[in-house]
Amino acid sequence: MFGEIAPKYDRLNHLLSLQTDRYWRWRTVRKLDPQPHEPILDVCTGTGDLALAFYRATRGSAPIVGSDFCPEMLEIANQKRDRLGISGDLTFLEADAQDLPFPDDYFQIVSVAFGLRNVADTDRGLREMTRVCQPGGKVAVLEFSMPTWQPFRGIYSFYFRRILPKIGQWLARNSSSAYSYLPESVGEFPSGEALAVRMREAGLRVVNYYPLTMGVATLYVGEK
Ligand SMILES: C[S@@+](CC[C@H](N)C(=O)[O-])C[C@H]1O[C@@H](n2cnc3c(N)ncnc32)[C@H](O)[C@@H]1O
Repeated sequence: MFGEIAPKYDRLNHLLSLQTDRYWRWRTVRKLDPQPHEPILDVCTGTGDLALAFYRATRGSAPIVGSDFCPEMLEIANQKRDRLGISGDLTFLEADAQDLPFPDDYFQIVSVAFGLRNVADTDRGLREMTRVCQPGGKVAVLEFSMPTWQPFRGIYSFYFRRILPKIGQWLARNSSSAYSYLPESVGEFPSGEALAVRMREAGLRVVNYYPLTMGVATLYVGEK
């Protein structure tokens, strides 16, 4: 499914979120406050936007890895890297988030944006992210959630469940159900305290979470 939508993923993402996805990634990087020289990992990196945001924030002074199991997504990430003329330490590599090819306690930050929901075994993904994070480091999950405040919840819910899948499918011009899968998977995925509990069970302590844009997305940050 991701291979099929990869060429149009960025354009659709920015359009369907009315560019808000850029702001969410910016907020994520700000909250995580990456330090120079210590490595950062972004899993389920897709076309690499969060990895690129880390690269900009650290001005290329920290080694950054973006990993994903979908080669078509990584190809776009690499094209972007080349287009931006980045010659520094930013690498995209193919890896399953449930079985990361990195040593224990290695990265200062391990992040995932709009990806954990798609990982087949959420807890295994969280445990792997925690394993490769340094003690004292941060594991961050940026994920869609449903706003709680009415009447915004009702309006957003209508857009998300009825309008977005239709526009997405029409613009992506394919028969795949990627954009009806989105609201379904968000509805089924744990959010708020329920996800924070799963992060604690994966070995993180002090898990805090921050609703963004009235709860359309939530940023979860845990310390190892
Ligand atoms: C919705 S995209 C998010 C991409 C990017 N992080 C962003 O913020 O736009 C989800 C990504 O997760 C990847 N993915 C899903 N399950 C995965 C897994 N088990 N291991 C690695 N990548 C996975 C998909 O290939 C896809 O690129």
